[in-house]
Amino acid sequence: MSGSLHLNIFLVLVCLIVGNDGVCSDSLTYFIDIKPIIDEHCTGCHRKGQTAPFSLESYEDVKKRASMVEMVVESKYMPPWHADTLFRTFHNQRALSEESLNKILTWIKSGAAEGLPQKKGAVNSFNWPSPDKIVAFQKPFIIPGDNEEQYRFFVIPVDNPTPIYLRGVGFVPKNKTLAHHSRIMIDTTKRIRPFDATSVWQAGPQLEKMNIPLANSFWTGWVPGNFPLFYPDGVAKVLPANADLVVNMHYAPSAKEETDQSEIHLYYAKGKPRRIIETLVFDETWVTNKPFEFQPDTVITFYMRSPVLPVDLSLLSVLPHMHLLGKSFKSFAITPDGDMIPLIHIPEWDFNWQQTYQFNNLLKIPRGSVIYAEATFDNTKNNPKNPYFPPAKVRYGWGTKDEMMNLIFEYLLYEPGDEYLDFYGAEN
Ligand code: HEC
Repeated sequence: MSGSLHLNIFLVLVCLIVGNDGVCSDSLTYFIDIKPIIDEHCTGCHRKGQTAPFSLESYEDVKKRASMVEMVVESKYMPPWHADTLFRTFHNQRALSEESLNKILTWIKSGAAEGLPQKKGAVNSFNWPSPDKIVAFQKPFIIPGDNEEQYRFFVIPVDNPTPIYLRGVGFVPKNKTLAHHSRIMIDTTKRIRPFDATSVWQAGPQLEKMNIPLANSFWTGWVPGNFPLFYPDGVAKVLPANADLVVNMHYAPSAKEETDQSEIHLYYAKGKPRRIIETLVFDETWVTNKPFEFQPDTVITFYMRSPVLPVDLSLLSVLPHMHLLGKSFKSFAITPDGDMIPLIHIPEWDFNWQQTYQFNNLLKIPRGSVIYAEATFDNTKNNPKNPYFPPAKVRYGWGTKDEMMNLIFEYLLYEPGDEYLDFYGAEN
């Protein structure tokens, strides 16, 4: 009793001191202060039909789980966000700001008041414009109910005679509970078509031997909580002529048989855009301490060094990629003046949450710079994700039990002023 009385007096004092712009528990209500944060950071996954196990869309949803919400936001377990925000922040960052975190904690501690509903309605926008074209897996895939993870290739022939310029792209899983992540590549040789719906374990080694030159080895990707990506006017992604979209898909284990026929939504650009988004992929070729092999019972760090960049680049996004032995990943650029430009740091790699990290604005990397990456892999039994028990020798490969080290950027050729552009628009 007296404790809470003291607390109340303390809060009144704090409210007098901080006024309206600080975190003042007396004035915090669900509708005004909390719902906008939850809509922005949580309900992308925590709503009906999405990956998370329960919805956080209504006041009641949040209120009845208040103590669990308090625990997971305080510990930063939720929202899932694996990049180190002190190294670099991102446009599509889900992590809560300190201010939002404090608001949620203070609101819960002071009783989680509901307040009055706001006329304006939800701020989240889950209603995207209609896509211009939807392409899907050729047939529904049956996910066996054998409690095993599934890694599959799907080939979607687009059969486009000319390149398609896109202002937006979205991967839309149809089985949102089991779809875990996807990587979408582009093949224009049609040689991957026979591998439609085959298992990555089996097809991976064969595809590797065929050594098919992909038109794009990482065109776009998807993890839960990702939505279609849109680009500003005049900037577009391109789907080359005669494209087959090759989807590398991971499904979570299921106890009962289910189906999936995921879609890719294409949003056409108006006319031919002035600037095209290109992809830059650094793979194991650029590792400086080869061989790229993993002896059992060892932890090893591989280092990557790009060639000296011949032109100025404006980076849009970065995507590090490893498999199950991955532990941490860091990348940065060193400019000709010796300055360090931080790109990404993932201190605790999680295979299930790999995603495209979009820079807040275009990030200029001057000509003459070199991009570096360092990735640590744990091939001991201390790594709970190690696919082999006891640990075995692991090599490079497409199979999930093999390893990879990729560093993928989306970029535009730099134009003066890019670094000052408000790339995603003022409201973002
Ligand atoms: C990218 C998707 C995603 C986002 C965004 C997200 N969650 Fe979750 N959340 C999940 C998934 C998946 C689970 C279940 C698996 C797990 O616990 O990791 C979960 C579990 C939880 C749990 C239960 C934890 C437990 O121990 O059982 C709580 C509480 C929770 N989330 C709250 C939140 C809150 C609050 C936010 C926003 C601040 C949020 N989540 C944002 C995907 C998400």
